[in-house]
Amino acid sequence: MKDKNDFPMKDKNIVYFDNAATTFKPYRVINKINEYYLDYNANSHRGDYDISFKVDDEIDYTRDLVKMFINAKRKDEIIFTKNTTESLNIIAFGFFLNYLNDGDEIILSSSEHASNILPWLILSAKKKIKIVFVDSKDEKLNIEDIKEKITSKTRLISIAEITNVSGDKRDIKTICKLAHKCGILVVVDAAQSAPHIKIDVQDTGVDFIAFSAHKMCGPTGVGVLYGKMELLKKMVPYTFGGGMNENYNEEHLELVEIPYRFESGTPNIADIIGFSEAIKFLNEIGMDTIERKEKYLRKYLIDELEKIPYIKIYNKNNEGSTVIINIDGIMSGDLGLYLNTKGICVRSGKHCAKMGDNKEDTVRISLYFYNTYEEIDILIDALKNKQEIYNFAGI
Ligand code: ALA
Repeated sequence: MKDKNDFPMKDKNIVYFDNAATTFKPYRVINKINEYYLDYNANSHRGDYDISFKVDDEIDYTRDLVKMFINAKRKDEIIFTKNTTESLNIIAFGFFLNYLNDGDEIILSSSEHASNILPWLILSAKKKIKIVFVDSKDEKLNIEDIKEKITSKTRLISIAEITNVSGDKRDIKTICKLAHKCGILVVVDAAQSAPHIKIDVQDTGVDFIAFSAHKMCGPTGVGVLYGKMELLKKMVPYTFGGGMNENYNEEHLELVEIPYRFESGTPNIADIIGFSEAIKFLNEIGMDTIERKEKYLRKYLIDELEKIPYIKIYNKNNEGSTVIINIDGIMSGDLGLYLNTKGICVRSGKHCAKMGDNKEDTVRISLYFYNTYEEIDILIDALKNKQEIYNFAGI
């Protein structure tokens, strides 16, 4: 297991439990980004001069690593975007806007992040599409409930593999089997799963997935959109400009091949290149090891939280790496600010998911493999200061 020496931010005397928002970056990712700016700062033109060839090679290499990381069949099924949100928007408006017809239905779970709800709501207004929500009971989505919502008009299920608040883990392979039997496509928001568990798009059979580099030790500003090639061939670009056209005049636009037609303009070169080191880093640790380590950390955290009688834990039985809590009578924002005074970083509020089981504001403790039992002890000690917390909140 990699240790704290891999991460400059682990040296800062803070206890970081907001990993579902973004993760720390190891030195090797930062160094790789610097290497680009120091040694071969050029644009990617696909063929002009040596340092530009080098840029193309490095971006291509990252694409290869991502392909292997999610076990895609082909490298050109990997499109670089800005983040998960942008990937989901491209899927919605580049593919589904044309694919869906008036009267069609989309199934979403109500505990999705806003990025997997809002694009579909906007699209539903443009096309008279019906959005059907499946509710999660006790923070867990039941596949039987999805089954019940499927009708002859259902064309798409769009769902997070692991939700960003309660950490509900969904069985994507079973959902895909169920959906495909009925001719329904499946989009997966993998923002909170790709950093934590093995993704295998060929095994699950998922049609599109989206995730972000910055939640998995990579740089900010890089997202991934994966789609099956036969679907990407039907997708239209979401942005138009340099690098995505072969030829054009007033009447005709000829697009370059996939994936480049979906990556117009200068890409986020430095960060895409830096992302390669994040993937190699995670591969060296192993996604199974990461999943196991986080499971143990989460169990320890829950066991310790349960010893504090005034803490309410909302999602004990879920499998993601988040734990959401509250203290009776204390606003989650106040508890977050109190923990900040102890050098502990958590997120409070609704966490961009406003429709599902997270109707209450909560404090979210989100773990990553580099967290330690000692850091959990620091959090638990802080939470044990009941009177201090109430005083801080002015109660
Ligand atoms: N989506 C990120 C989170 O859940 C920002 O915190």
